[in-house]
Amino acid sequence: KQVALGIDIGGTNTKFGLVNHRGEILERGHLKTEQYEKVEDFIDELYNEIKPLLDKCCKDREFEGIGVGAPNANYYKGTIEDAPNLRWKGIIPFADMMSKKFGTNCKITNDANAAALGEMLYGAARGMKDFIMMTLGTGVGSGIVCGGNLIYGHDGFAGELGHTIVKPGGRKHWSTGSEGSLEAYASATGIAITAKKMRVEFPNSMLNNFPEEEINSRVVYECAAKGDATSIEVFRYTGQKLGEALANFVMFSSPEAILLFGGVIKAGDFILKPTKLHMERNLLPIFRNKVKLVFSELDEADAAILGASALVWENNYSQPPQI
Ligand code: BGC
Ligand code: NA
Repeated sequence: KQVALGIDIGGTNTKFGLVNHRGEILERGHLKTEQYEKVEDFIDELYNEIKPLLDKCCKDREFEGIGVGAPNANYYKGTIEDAPNLRWKGIIPFADMMSKKFGTNCKITNDANAAALGEMLYGAARGMKDFIMMTLGTGVGSGIVCGGNLIYGHDGFAGELGHTIVKPGGRKHWSTGSEGSLEAYASATGIAITAKKMRVEFPNSMLNNFPEEEINSRVVYECAAKGDATSIEVFRYTGQKLGEALANFVMFSSPEAILLFGGVIKAGDFILKPTKLHMERNLLPIFRNKVKLVFSELDEADAAILGASALVWENNYSQPPQI
């Protein structure tokens, strides 16, 4: 009877869970990442929140360690490095800091890689050897699985597909300064920017009923659901940019499926349909109508929590741990 702590750090929220070998989340909780200016304070608060859960859960179970998924995380070095959507800049030895604080081992990988692992072990990607996980939240992340393994590359950062350019010379990224990245369009942040621009062009849009600071991807979704044509167009345009990018990714690694995960997928068909259309349209015919484009099967946060916890169990992630 063992338990591991899985933590999913996002630009806005951090979610965590105590997970057993069957991939069941026994205890869970969350924090607002953006509230902590200093990473030390964030780790202290994590500890304060998690310690009572551990005490409760580990009366009759062994605590095996910590796995973390985070933006710009380096699996080889245990660091988080200059994440565009986190307040903590520079090279942070996050795994070491966690391990000292909690008195146990800690491993870290990119948050989208963790989500990919979670889906591969327990969700929609079970049995798949080649697929791409795209996480659409505050930022856009990806986990690329080829031949049953996550791609890490030479320096450990492979798979930053959110920062690939979908519109050369396009929208300037708020943090990196790059021009026309997928993240600048298809993240929740990017969707809010698109909505703020489009509502100026369409004075009759429902989006004009909100003050500027309240425009976010959820509001755009709510307006789209009420039939607001401008909001529907925001998602169509977002889906177009995402679909064009996905066509490139498909031709790069020939995945069996692309999984979409994260807050933005709450927009459902408003985003899925144009994404599929523009992906298919831009594929070389040999790839057409073959790649499954699906939403994550696991609850929004769970894929990344489960995948992060799996870092603790195994060196070979292709199989769930044996009980
Ligand atoms: C980061 C990625 C991360 C993604 C989603 C991007 O800005 O560069 O590492 O996976 O956001 O959090
Ligand atoms: Na990645």
